[in-house]
Amino acid sequence: MSTAFDHPTYNYRVVRAFTIMTVVWGVVGMSLGVLIASQLVWPDLLANIPYLHFGRLRPLHTNAVIFGFGGSALFATSYFVVQRTTQARLFSDVLASFTFWGWQAIIVAAAITLPLGITQAKEYAELEWPIDVAITVVWVAYAVNFFGTIWKRKMKHIYVANWFYGAFIITVAVLHLGNSAVIPAGAFKSYSVYSGATDAMVQWWYGHNAVGFFLTAGFLGMMYYFVPKQTGKPVFSYRLSIVHFWALISIYIWAGPHHLHYTALPDWTQSLGMVMSLILLAPSWGGMINGVMTLSGAWHKLRTDPILRFLVVSLSFYGMSTFEGPMMAIKTVNALSHYTDWTIGHVHAGALGWVAMVSIGSVYHLLPVVLGLKPGQMHSIKLINVHFWLSTIGTVLYIASMWVNGIMQGLMWRAFNSDGSLTYSFVEAVDASYPGWTVRVIGGALFVLGMLLMAYNVYMTVRSANGKVASLQAEAQAA
Ligand code: HEM
Ligand code: HEM
Repeated sequence: MSTAFDHPTYNYRVVRAFTIMTVVWGVVGMSLGVLIASQLVWPDLLANIPYLHFGRLRPLHTNAVIFGFGGSALFATSYFVVQRTTQARLFSDVLASFTFWGWQAIIVAAAITLPLGITQAKEYAELEWPIDVAITVVWVAYAVNFFGTIWKRKMKHIYVANWFYGAFIITVAVLHLGNSAVIPAGAFKSYSVYSGATDAMVQWWYGHNAVGFFLTAGFLGMMYYFVPKQTGKPVFSYRLSIVHFWALISIYIWAGPHHLHYTALPDWTQSLGMVMSLILLAPSWGGMINGVMTLSGAWHKLRTDPILRFLVVSLSFYGMSTFEGPMMAIKTVNALSHYTDWTIGHVHAGALGWVAMVSIGSVYHLLPVVLGLKPGQMHSIKLINVHFWLSTIGTVLYIASMWVNGIMQGLMWRAFNSDGSLTYSFVEAVDASYPGWTVRVIGGALFVLGMLLMAYNVYMTVRSANGKVASLQAEAQAA
């Protein structure tokens, strides 16, 4: 992505590269989502090819969307935001390129090993130990580059977005090292150093904080920069943002056991996880309110600015999923929701509604800037608007169908006849789930269609920026 429009001060090259890959992995990972959603509707789809079986493609989907799409968006925006808010160039251009190529190689390694069935079998930490070592090296380079830039900053103040990005970088490093502790047994096989309930506990300490720090804290960093920028107003309350930061990071870390209710985990840890999850509602909503209220006095902009719509609707989904999460963490509610599609609906309210939509809005804002154009000056604003509606309708279809399925499944599984026998067999609950699964395929396909429009819009914007640079260069030569 070396182009003629390199900025005199900032390293925009790495931001451009990660931004393009955000869109690429978004299309790939979400298409895989539609594929596995289709496999649940048509179980024979690709069933005779072991590499493309649901069980192997599912972790490929989660890795591609979380680490490929979400990870690239986090790298792109953190490198952009840290430079803009410190007014300093990245600490090292070499480390920046290293993190780009290293991270892409890791995602490609995931795309090769997971279909081959090479896995540690820990959710969101499936990749085998050699890839884990590579992740550690790239992550350390990222941390050095990010904090190095903060260290050489041109202004005293460290803007709050950087606090969130910083917490995300440090915590993900700790989680990754803690949960990936294994004893290798060959190049592609290893055994966890933990066993039994301890292994489960460590895994969900990791899993939940991957949600809290990979899928939330970093994206809140995005929110704190791009919402005020796109609105043209300062953040609603700087004081609230600081309270939000400290409250969020100190509470999230305790909530992991809500993934292990009614298991062999000691009961008191389950209750602690539940209580901490309920408390987590407060900082989560504090952050959401801070973002949404930044629009006070500028609500009219929502009528004409689809980029702002992406950002604000993402905050609404953030609020919704962080209300739903604490409710699902209550043990009696979890007794109904666990193992059902309700969990999947909750995941995608966060993943599509919050993570994907805030990333999409941020990319539409920053891509023109790193191409030497004005913020938001994309090839077609109309297409962004169509994209916004496709994403919103797609997300609503996805999560609504999963709520209906989830509650129905939970209720069918627990229904008893007066003689104590089960009212429904498991297969009857599966059969009743097909309409919801079909609606999910439609919702997912709409979301992917929006991503394809985005890819086209990004391509045309890069092309027109290239054209502008070429004609400016020609004019300069002629003069
Ligand atoms: C078009 C968009 C998408 C579709 C159609 C889709 C579809 C799916 C399907 C069918 C599953 C498996 C559900 C099951 O096992 O019952 C799944 C799981 C998952 N997806 Fe997606 N997905 C999409 C986008 C995303 C995005 C953008 C993210 C994250 C940023 C994401 C994160 C996840 C996670 C974390 C799981 C595992 C959930 C769990 O184990 O509870 N998905 N997805
Ligand atoms: C206050 C915030 C939140 C709380 C307390 C919370 C709580 C929960 C609970 C109780 C579950 C179900 C566990 C189970 O029954 O197995 C769950 C699952 C999940 N949540 Fe959340 N949630 C929150 C926010 C979010 C957000 C914002 C996202 C995404 C960006 C998210 C992503 C997930 C994922 C991926 C899972 C599925 C994990 C798995 O089983 O594979 N959560 N959450």
